[in-house]
Amino acid sequence: MKALVHDGNGHIALEDRPEPQLQLPTDAIIRVTCSTICTSDLHIIHGAVPRATPNTVLGHEFVGVVEQVGEGVHALKPGDRVAVSCETFCGECFYCERGWVNNCVEGGWELGCCEDGCQAELVRVAHAGHTCAPIPADVTDEDALFLGDIVATGHWGASIAEIEPGSTVAVIGAGPVGLTTMMCARLHEPATIIAIDIDPARLALARERGLADAVIDASDMDLAAVEAAVRELSSNRGADSVIEAAGGSNTFEMAWRIARPHGVVVLSAMYEGPQTLPLHEMYGKNLVFKTGGVDACNMGETMRLVQEGCIDASCLISGRYPLNDIVEAYRAFEAHEDGCLKLVITPWEDR
Ligand SMILES: NC(=O)c1ccc[n+]([C@@H]2O[C@H](COP(=O)([O-])OP(=O)(O)OC[C@H]3O[C@@H](n4cnc5c(N)ncnc54)[C@H](O)[C@@H]3O)[C@@H](O)[C@H]2O)c1
Ligand SMILES: [Zn+2]
Ligand SMILES: [Zn+2]
Repeated sequence: MKALVHDGNGHIALEDRPEPQLQLPTDAIIRVTCSTICTSDLHIIHGAVPRATPNTVLGHEFVGVVEQVGEGVHALKPGDRVAVSCETFCGECFYCERGWVNNCVEGGWELGCCEDGCQAELVRVAHAGHTCAPIPADVTDEDALFLGDIVATGHWGASIAEIEPGSTVAVIGAGPVGLTTMMCARLHEPATIIAIDIDPARLALARERGLADAVIDASDMDLAAVEAAVRELSSNRGADSVIEAAGGSNTFEMAWRIARPHGVVVLSAMYEGPQTLPLHEMYGKNLVFKTGGVDACNMGETMRLVQEGCIDASCLISGRYPLNDIVEAYRAFEAHEDGCLKLVITPWEDR
């Protein structure tokens, strides 16, 4: 089969790989019908994810059709359409019992990182009974495509940010993760969602779609100016909840600066380098920090929210490429070409 592989030195290429086989009774083999590229794939290619194993098939955000199941998988059968979590999880260990599947002792973020991922024709999914969620007939593959990763991350970030009705939420980054975070934050009924980015087109989308109530273009502003702009929108206090979904060079500092005293700062972004936590400067702010990554086990609820029209991430889809052209898709995605937010990768085409 065809699969996209990275070499650990910043290069990606389509290769012929053997089809994956069931290895454990709890595995399933999924035929990928739609996948997509995540910014975390770029972090892997940049060498910024220490756990990532070279020569692994990339990709962890996808939907597909069950091809084969191990004898221990009772919840799925061949032919089922499924959305797949970016984290495989056993559902039974200390962490899974508490919903912290990112730390599952037998899983976590492995797909496309240290186990072969979904930017291929077929993928082996471990603990498939927990990791895969059936897609109802009235939900399309594209509607369910982002549930396993960026919608999971938006939902997780918003749910741990302790958002109270009537409060002010600041989301740093209006990329795919920031935008899904805003969609999910809205469900907690804050009075104001402030989107902060340096890309005016992304901010315009957030505003036009009603995902944000106010936007701050930080491209020509220092952090003191961003802090002042957020205060102006929040009774001179700062944001009650801040969700950092940018991962930029100064956005960690921005996050704690724009939070009000006793505010909650959620770090959804994945950084490519170390960050500084200057406790002496923030002394007296009494902040609560919650660090990534996502616990992507909320697909039952997010699938329902999609089905009921409460979450609609289709506005993020900027284009479609068959697997044949995925290297070109990576280039366009990384360059934000023509305002690119997310690209759908469709199955390999025999030409
Ligand atoms: N926690 C998780 O498990 C999880 C899951 C998925 C993605 N992620 C991470 O979330 C982050 C965001 O993902 P994405 O796909 O939305 O990425 P993205 O790069 O498309 O979006 C980031 C946005 O931040 C903006 N930005 C950059 N520097 C900025 C600055 N200094 N000030 C204001 N805005 C700035 C960019 O213009 C961009 O719009 C990535 O680091 C990704 O790896 C984490
Ligand atoms: Zn991802
Ligand atoms: Zn577990």
